[in-house]
Amino acid sequence: MTNTPGVSFRTIWLHPDDPGTVQIIDQRRLPHRYEVVDLQTHADGAIAIRDMLVRGAPLIGATAAWSLYLAALEARSASSSPERQVEFVRSAAETLAATRPTAVNLRWGIDRMLAVLTDVTDSDTMIARLRSEAETICDEDVAISRGIGEHGAELLAAIAERKDGEPVNILTHCNAGSLATINWGTATAPMYIARERGIPIHVWVDETRPRNQGSQLTAWELAQSGISHTVIVDNAGGHLMQHGRVDICITGTDRTTRAGDVANKIGTYLKALAAHDNGVPFYVALPSTTIDWTISDGLRDIPIEERGAEEVTHVSGLDGDKIRTVKIVADASPVRNDAFDVTPARLVTGLITERGVCEASEEGLAGLFPDRAAADQ
Ligand code: MRU
Repeated sequence: MTNTPGVSFRTIWLHPDDPGTVQIIDQRRLPHRYEVVDLQTHADGAIAIRDMLVRGAPLIGATAAWSLYLAALEARSASSSPERQVEFVRSAAETLAATRPTAVNLRWGIDRMLAVLTDVTDSDTMIARLRSEAETICDEDVAISRGIGEHGAELLAAIAERKDGEPVNILTHCNAGSLATINWGTATAPMYIARERGIPIHVWVDETRPRNQGSQLTAWELAQSGISHTVIVDNAGGHLMQHGRVDICITGTDRTTRAGDVANKIGTYLKALAAHDNGVPFYVALPSTTIDWTISDGLRDIPIEERGAEEVTHVSGLDGDKIRTVKIVADASPVRNDAFDVTPARLVTGLITERGVCEASEEGLAGLFPDRAAADQ
């Protein structure tokens, strides 16, 4: 398998020979195994999101969308009345919405799918509409990521010009790459466009404990695409910044408030603090689907997911040709596992969106998205 952003690669798709099966990549097995998993029911989709076979805010939303299409197929098989079939899909939506709390794309994707159920009177129409909407959500996500890439690449080009041919050193955290979206990624999209344009770059990849999305997913993606990168431990970023080895930080976000606060993978805040202290620009790349226009105060209003202790107490890796999991924390020690943190807007140099780059502030976001800012207060 090759990961070719913008060409053929997708992270979720309808089985080419079976419209009753949605396929995903089991991201828990990367980088050691590339395994495709079939989803046949909405419950399969819910498990895939909860257990993180798929992850990353846009892909979570898209998986929920496709899962509602599967729910409609299940409802038709049960051959109940059209009203009861719609009811079934609505209850599947609630199951899916409860899987992961922080990424706002989950609720956004579900609401978009439920909106097409208005006035549905037969199951074939319901299924056709849900399939079409899930496809549209995925196609739009690809276009949005490409837009983020175009705008972000201009920032990289400006730094490259100052560096006179030396590579631009970018630090990223977690995986806000193709694997977190449908294609291109958000934080990685500018890197892929930079490569297209011949802008020399090098990426510092935070390993991103506890699940290691950086070392296991971002590094895999960049290697597939031939982009120069180096994996570093999570605590190394500040040191590299102090020594002038980082020109720009670009991360993703799972939920952005209308005032520009961002929730992203745990540890993002510490990188923003270090960047601030060292005068390194700290940008956050986001599709507008990640903006929660109903909230302003990220620390107060963004729900932070707490995940299981085993993500902290255990690590997995390749032992010979076998993937093994080993325990690294003593039984007697309790652990805590907050999966996200909030970086206040004041620490964010700018937001890279599909409509351009703006200040991380209510004015900045409203300037780019006046339609949304006015509608969803
Ligand atoms: O827990 P995860 O792996 O879903 O967390 C993912 C992140 O934090 C990403 O940075 C975020 O979803 C942005 S994805 C384009």
